[in-house]
Amino acid sequence: MALKLDLTGLLGDSAMREAMTAAMPRAIAARDMHHAQAPRWRRLPQERQFLESCQQRAAAVKAAGPVEVFVVLGIGGSALGNTAMIHALAPVFQEWKPAAGQPRVFILDNVDPDWLGAFFEDVPMDKAHINVISKSGGTIETSSQFLLAWQHMLAACNGDETAARARFTLTTDDANGHFRKIADDLGFSTLSVPDGVGGRFSVLSPVGLFTAVMAGLDAEGLLAGAERVDQKLAAAQPEQDAALMYALAHVLHMEAGRNVHVQFAYSHRLRSMADWFKQLWAESLGKRHNLKGEEVHVGPTPSKAVGPTDQHSQSQLYVEGPDDKVYTILKLDRFEKEVEVPAPFTSSAAFAPLLGRSLNELMEQERRGTEVALLEAGRPVCVLELCKLDAFHVGQYFMMMEIATAYAGHMMGIDPFDQPGVEAGKIAALALMGCEGYEQRAAEIEARFAERTPLVLSC
Ligand code: PA5
Repeated sequence: MALKLDLTGLLGDSAMREAMTAAMPRAIAARDMHHAQAPRWRRLPQERQFLESCQQRAAAVKAAGPVEVFVVLGIGGSALGNTAMIHALAPVFQEWKPAAGQPRVFILDNVDPDWLGAFFEDVPMDKAHINVISKSGGTIETSSQFLLAWQHMLAACNGDETAARARFTLTTDDANGHFRKIADDLGFSTLSVPDGVGGRFSVLSPVGLFTAVMAGLDAEGLLAGAERVDQKLAAAQPEQDAALMYALAHVLHMEAGRNVHVQFAYSHRLRSMADWFKQLWAESLGKRHNLKGEEVHVGPTPSKAVGPTDQHSQSQLYVEGPDDKVYTILKLDRFEKEVEVPAPFTSSAAFAPLLGRSLNELMEQERRGTEVALLEAGRPVCVLELCKLDAFHVGQYFMMMEIATAYAGHMMGIDPFDQPGVEAGKIAALALMGCEGYEQRAAEIEARFAERTPLVLSC
């Protein structure tokens, strides 16, 4: 039962190994800084009150009536961990065939009118529970989703506000923000986004745990896996700290010009772990200023690929294009199912290599083929293996990547926990939507758009 990180292909030649050794003091300083900061997200597995609050809320929700559909409304850190977890741990086609007795789960992290419009036209609101997640309570996408869901729920409840409210949970800050005030004023039930835990580090708080409990996933296992990594890394010597070595190798490769960090998931069910990682790595490490306030404009560009699908889309670039990438292959030691390829119905050479083989073997040999092609082209590749696809290993993955991100940020001399660039976009959207107090900003932005003259291809 382990998460295994094989860094061999990332350390490559002796020059890289020497660079790693020389940079160890920097890595140790980053690790010390992380331990001195003792961020709350690292302690979440021990803060049992959060799981208990989710279990109590889930029990109350389920006792009040059947829940066939569980809907998460939120964006960014409020959604991506939920999606990663559901894709990894719920039945593969859970949206139409959930586990027995469990609701179908939908995580809506966009305001696309075609998507949201179609969803609310069809979803049986009288059998739904809606979890609106926003730490700040000021994210316009989530606010608009909330209003839409409320309107549909109220209609489903024949205008009975008390009944409609019972089908909502607001997951938000305990003390601050618009959603906190709405919940307090109107009597919505709430769950906590703990103080000091930013969105992209919140999957092991009620942000992810409530979904896990409502979907019947092993929330205890998730926390146990995360706790195991927390303890193991805390006790490890720096050279044995997998998150530290992962972060250091990536930072050094980045400084040597390998700025694109690809997570290549050889598992359909792990595909959204790579999306979760993308946000964590990008939002935490892409920064304009360093801690001294100097303008540095640093940060890796995380990227996602799924094998073998993207072998037929990206591999040409990866193997022969610019040497500006670092690869993490995500793999499973074994898949849940063993699927034999049926015997050929004709003697075509197309089928010959498949005779007596399984999809499991094919997947693994494709993965190995990709790894070796990258290595032989001199591209740095590491392999992160989950011995089993269960909550324990997913919890380990979440915690390891969060710690690696914090370490990388400290090594880079930036603050991995803020996101001023995201806030800038949020403010621009508020201004353009006519929010009071942002008139000047709105005028500046509109003036920019007015300058554009698009090329028209057809009428
Ligand atoms: O990681 C983050 O902090 C962000 O991605 C937020 O999660 C995202 O912007 C949504 O914010 P909120 O939860 O406040 O609605």
